[in-house]
Amino acid sequence: HVEGDLELDQTLYTEEQITTRLQELARQIEADYEGKDLLLVGVLKGAVMVMADLARSLERHVEMDWMAVSSYGSGTQSSGVVRILKDLDTDLNGRHVLIVEDIIDTGLTLSWLITNLRSRGPASVEIATLLRKPDALQMDVEVRYVGFDIPNAFVVGYGLDFNERYRNLRCIGTLSPHVYL
Ligand code: PRP
Ligand code: MN
Ligand code: MG
Repeated sequence: HVEGDLELDQTLYTEEQITTRLQELARQIEADYEGKDLLLVGVLKGAVMVMADLARSLERHVEMDWMAVSSYGSGTQSSGVVRILKDLDTDLNGRHVLIVEDIIDTGLTLSWLITNLRSRGPASVEIATLLRKPDALQMDVEVRYVGFDIPNAFVVGYGLDFNERYRNLRCIGTLSPHVYL
């Protein structure tokens, strides 16, 4: 693999399109949480870029905390059984929580996570995700804020990885099939 050869098949969203959409979501979030405290919970590692840019788009105070989870499963198939690798530092009791994700694919991770966080006595738990794949969804997850609904293709960049690579791309694109086949 040649360093600098990014092997993107197609750009789905440019840096500017992502910024514009996050600004729109930020205005909705500001309106919905007016007069309430807000805790953003980012899911490591994919959500790092969305968290950084969404949080900075918000013209209000927020707190940020992080979770790392891993889903048990055979091969690439997610099982929905999730293990916490790093838990929150924050007590959720009485808090308004907004989970921040880069992508909802099958929905198994978030469906487990939302149940887990709701059991901790928060005032509310909602989800914001930059991307969602409606065709891949296996669980009915109610998502309050969605950046873009995308086709069921392998996408990377802006936090999204393939074997830990491509997370640092500023845009989101599809990977050339020769990379993963
Ligand atoms: C990816 C993505 C979401 C999750 C979505 O994370 O960032 O967190 O999968 O998949 P699902 O809807 O099918 O559950 P991944 O487990 O690859 O970890 P990462 O964020 O560290 O890349
Ligand atoms: Mn993730
Ligand atoms: Mg990943």
